[in-house]
Amino acid sequence: MSAIRALRFYLRAKTTSVWRYALSETLQGLLGWIPSVVGVGVRGVAYKSFLVAEGLPAIEDHVRLHRTEDIRLGRGVYLDHGVYLHGGAGGLRIGAGAWIMAGCRLQVFNFRGIEQAGIRIGQRTFVGEGTIMRGQGGITIGDQVLFGPRVQVLAVNHVFADPARPIMEQGITATGIRIDDGCWIGAGAIILDGVTIGRHACIGAGAVVTASVPAHSLAVGVPARVVRDLQREPLDPPEGPVYSGGMEELG
Ligand SMILES: CC(C)(COP(=O)(O)OP(=O)(O)OC[C@H]1O[C@@H](n2cnc3c(N)ncnc32)[C@H](O)[C@@H]1OP(=O)(O)O)[C@@H](O)C(=O)NCCC(=O)NCCS
Repeated sequence: MSAIRALRFYLRAKTTSVWRYALSETLQGLLGWIPSVVGVGVRGVAYKSFLVAEGLPAIEDHVRLHRTEDIRLGRGVYLDHGVYLHGGAGGLRIGAGAWIMAGCRLQVFNFRGIEQAGIRIGQRTFVGEGTIMRGQGGITIGDQVLFGPRVQVLAVNHVFADPARPIMEQGITATGIRIDDGCWIGAGAIILDGVTIGRHACIGAGAVVTASVPAHSLAVGVPARVVRDLQREPLDPPEGPVYSGGMEELG
């Protein structure tokens, strides 16, 4: 590949407008490192020149944003230290009051023009540290979903049917993943393409979710199996104290 073609490919992955790319990279280079509430304030104002955000988003230091023309942030979104967001055709939308915690990598990764691609995260959803999302098939997450740390949501599979060809040349399938309102996804769970997780379901830590999980279920293990219907067989209340509240001020 010639250097010019390689440069064009690189820029296409990062932007649809060279001017927007120049602006966003310059501002992120100048302001992205500033720590503390000062940096959060400066970025909240300046970054609105290259991405769409309602109100002032709270963006910590060393957050990296690519294809910013495809990124939409609702009011009061919080992007913690080291978050990496890569938009793309189909868009990356984060709902009002959502928290995207340190080191998350959310990537639409739509280099093939897939119609259903995109990542949509609902309001007041909490995405735990180090979570990874790949949105080729489309990822839709409801409101008030709780992700533990290091969850992976992978809306893509490689085709590997032809034993004679390298898998990377055989293309991908990308159906999409939906996680409905009020779910809890335990630490380190892996959610695979084609899966729907119904509202208020709970996925145990470390589960590999290969098939859809009905609403109000507890599913655990590898592969994840439903072990309880939380409506028909409600859990006993926990024995020890239960701590709640603490985030009401954030609305
Ligand atoms: C899923 C979870 C909530 C279940 O808690 P629980 O209701 O107390 O469930 P139990 O301990 O009664 O377990 C029910 C069964 O599922 C099994 N199980 C529970 N969690 C499991 C897990 N993560 N992986 C595999 N099996 C699991 C138990 O061994 C038990 O099996 P058994 O009936 O054969 O003995 C808990 O185990 C879990 O994974 N929590 C996630 C913690 C986390 O990610 N915290 C980060 C903060 S967001």
